[in-house]
Amino acid sequence: MSKKFEILRVLKEHRWISGQKLAELLGISRSDVHKHITSLRESGYKITAKRNLGYILKSVPEVKTYRQLEFVMKEFINTISIRHYPMLDSTQTQAKKLADRDLKEWAVVVADVQTSGYGRLKRSWSSGVGGLWFSILLRPEIEPALASSISLVTSLAVVEMLKKTAQINCFLKWPNDVVYIKDTKLYKVAGILTEMSTDVESVRWVVVGCGINVNNKIPQELKEIAISLKSICGKSFSTIELLKGFLMEFKGLYKRFIKEGFCVFKELYNKRCIITGKQVIISNLYGERLLGVACGVNDKGHLILDSNNKKLEVISGDVTIKEIR
Ligand code: BTN
Repeated sequence: MSKKFEILRVLKEHRWISGQKLAELLGISRSDVHKHITSLRESGYKITAKRNLGYILKSVPEVKTYRQLEFVMKEFINTISIRHYPMLDSTQTQAKKLADRDLKEWAVVVADVQTSGYGRLKRSWSSGVGGLWFSILLRPEIEPALASSISLVTSLAVVEMLKKTAQINCFLKWPNDVVYIKDTKLYKVAGILTEMSTDVESVRWVVVGCGINVNNKIPQELKEIAISLKSICGKSFSTIELLKGFLMEFKGLYKRFIKEGFCVFKELYNKRCIITGKQVIISNLYGERLLGVACGVNDKGHLILDSNNKKLEVISGDVTIKEIR
């Protein structure tokens, strides 16, 4: 962590603290403390100084631009960089280009509009103005076989963020959807797409893409299956605030996932997953269909399906719920 953010962390932990104490704690000179405090003030942090008392952090800046968001997030994720574009073909495509250019992990690409946004199985993803469309480049040091459950961890972070930041209760629909229930019908609020490049033993990169319907208009042909946060709540949301909420949530979950694996999220995932205990039909790429009761995900994030009293482990597929209640 840079000294500037260390000062911020110490200020958050204290009421008043002297310049001398700050300098000692951080192993820097008084004049360096002063220099960092000035820089923090320039970034919008209100820091008051008083003789005999030292410094106190009065308030943190409101995050109104992606630049400010990058600055604020650097306190928690030091390699984070946020690249914002008014228009892109796809944030996913752009993040994959950055991955091949050896960029550090936590490069976030965000676009106001995507002209060729895509989802699972290269299905087109409607990405008009007002939505939150972003992709994150990660370089997890884990076995390639474990990396696909990053999708599940991401969707969990979206659900938690929506609860905390927008006060909206959403559910997970395995494998990668975030849904909202309205009049006993399910509507998609967000979708997650994970792509990666691996060799036999290691992961080169993972790009996690996330699309959240925030204030964007849902095209007529999708109105039966998708919904925006704005139409759920009747008010607009700041996409920057939502991205901040997501990153704050995701950084913790991701770090824990890397350390302990998906198994630690299994219980919470199954609790938030709308298909657990329901009769479902799962179809795969080849048009094959499996019918059964979804018993929840296992330690790897695979779905356990009870089909004719046989327990099947399903890795991926499109899920249709036979009955919501
Ligand atoms: C799905 O539900 O199939 C996943 C949809 C993922 C869409 C997001 S929007 C940001 C990122 N850029 C893309 O082109 N796709 C992902």
